[in-house]
Amino acid sequence: MSNISLRYQQLKDARQFLKILRNPNFLYLAVKAKTLQDEEKWLRACPAKRRKNLEWNYAILLDGLVIGAIGIKINQFRKHIGEIGYFVAEEYWGRGITTQAVKLVEQKAFKKLGLSRLEIVMRAENYASERVAIKNNYRKEGKLRKLAKDRQGIWRDFWLYAKVL
Ligand SMILES: CC(C)(COP(=O)(O)OP(=O)(O)OC[C@H]1O[C@@H](n2cnc3c(N)ncnc32)[C@H](O)[C@@H]1OP(=O)(O)O)[C@@H](O)C(=O)NCCC(=O)NCCS
Repeated sequence: MSNISLRYQQLKDARQFLKILRNPNFLYLAVKAKTLQDEEKWLRACPAKRRKNLEWNYAILLDGLVIGAIGIKINQFRKHIGEIGYFVAEEYWGRGITTQAVKLVEQKAFKKLGLSRLEIVMRAENYASERVAIKNNYRKEGKLRKLAKDRQGIWRDFWLYAKVL
């Protein structure tokens, strides 16, 4: 496999992230950024989110090129728990890149951040995301019914997968 690495997201990534996220085939991801300004605003907020231990967001690089993102959101009520989220540009799907990125972000989560429980939640229809969790040995813990609304405002069920130390 080519060289996959993670680094903090930077302001200069805004255009590339927006290009990736504008894909209408991202059916199950709630994307808030609509303009370059939205995306830049989001990226500018990242260092403060790290300082406050709210979110740790990384760019996924393939041979140095930004092709996606992966992040850990810290549960503010139980700070040993983090939730992983991710996306990758469609032209790179199905090559095991996200599976590899989860392995890399886990090292940061368990070793650097001291977390002991990692969760991945995905729309029940999001088979690709479910495969990423399964391939990384996350255990399916159940269905979170009506967890969040989709883009049409309809409440949707999600699977909860988790790994504990
Ligand atoms: C989910 C996503 C990040 C997966 O990225 P990826 O780099 O393609 O993931 P991997 O290659 O590591 O693994 C994908 C697995 O799903 C499988 N897959 C893909 N589409 C599938 C489908 N429609 N049905 C069943 N399996 C599917 C692949 O075959 C692969 O499994 P395998 O290795 O057993 O063959 C990517 O599809 C994506 O960015 N989607 C849009 C954003 C999104 O939904 N993010 C997740 C929110 S929870």
